[in-house]
Amino acid sequence: GMVRKPAAFISTISDERGAELMYSGVKISEVFESEMGIGGVISLLWFKRRLPPMYTKFIETAIMLCADHGPSVSGAMNTIITSRAGKDLVSSLVSGLLTIGDRFGGALDGAARTFSSGFDRGLTARELVDEARRNSQLLPGIGHKIKSVTNPDFRVQVVKEFVQKNFEQHPLLDYALAVERVTTQKKDTLILNVDGCIAVCFVDMLRNSGAFTREEADEYINIGGLNGIFVLARSIGFIGHHLDQKRLKAPLYRHPADDIFIDLTTPQRVTIDG
Ligand code: ACO
Ligand code: LMR
Repeated sequence: GMVRKPAAFISTISDERGAELMYSGVKISEVFESEMGIGGVISLLWFKRRLPPMYTKFIETAIMLCADHGPSVSGAMNTIITSRAGKDLVSSLVSGLLTIGDRFGGALDGAARTFSSGFDRGLTARELVDEARRNSQLLPGIGHKIKSVTNPDFRVQVVKEFVQKNFEQHPLLDYALAVERVTTQKKDTLILNVDGCIAVCFVDMLRNSGAFTREEADEYINIGGLNGIFVLARSIGFIGHHLDQKRLKAPLYRHPADDIFIDLTTPQRVTIDG
């Protein structure tokens, strides 16, 4: 019989060897015939299954909403500065992407884990907030630099309304909104932010759509897949900022010295506000 060389690695999402490229067993011609859109392609390559149109629309909505949030945010500034240092598109893009993490844009996985853990353990919203405080932890997915109860984030509104209207069940969104009611009592800016809102709705999709087993849903959260939504979305904006700077022929950036407080006499004692 045929002796097969052991494979160096296993791959299970796409296959280009046949006459037609396949995404998770679906021919590329079928991808177009069925008009599944970018949300459908993501569902094939990330989840290895076809999600119903309502969920691919949810994914697309999240991506459209997170595509950009102006030039002032950490990632866009990094991209712009790198671009103005004369670097190429990939360098400028990854420079921006490297800022995505626990504080900026990358709170989705943490929010999914924290809120589902509190919910699964039967903690009330108040108990979850108290537990985080006792452990000196910030709740991922809560808080914003400028958005607040009085200056609401329209993006969060859109996600919330989409899910409330279309998902049959959204227990984790409801739980996160209860947590928001507790945290905003402390401070106006401690809202359920766009990372947090997308994350809990994503968990509601993974757990309640019927498209995933509970093990598959938990696995997807555990392997850190939710941040992928923000990374993919914001890449659109960062590429836009890079092209914008190139078109503007923006020169090398140097930060104004009068905007930096330099104190070499007492370096250990310098604290930065805000
Ligand atoms: N959970 C609990 N308490 C919080 C949280 C939180 N997530 N965020 C801030 N606080 C508290 C702080 O402990 C502080 O309390 P104190 O006054 O008793 O010391 C108070 O709220 C103010 O905190 P600041 O650090 O001034 O808040 P800031 O506005 O600078 O931070 C930030 C905003 C970075 C988003 C912060 O809220 C945070 O780290 N949140 C968690 C991470 C997160 O969700 N990031 C994604 C943001 S959305 C996006 O990037 C697309
Ligand atoms: C973003 O989408 O980049 C933000 O919500 C962060 C910010 O400070 O605006």
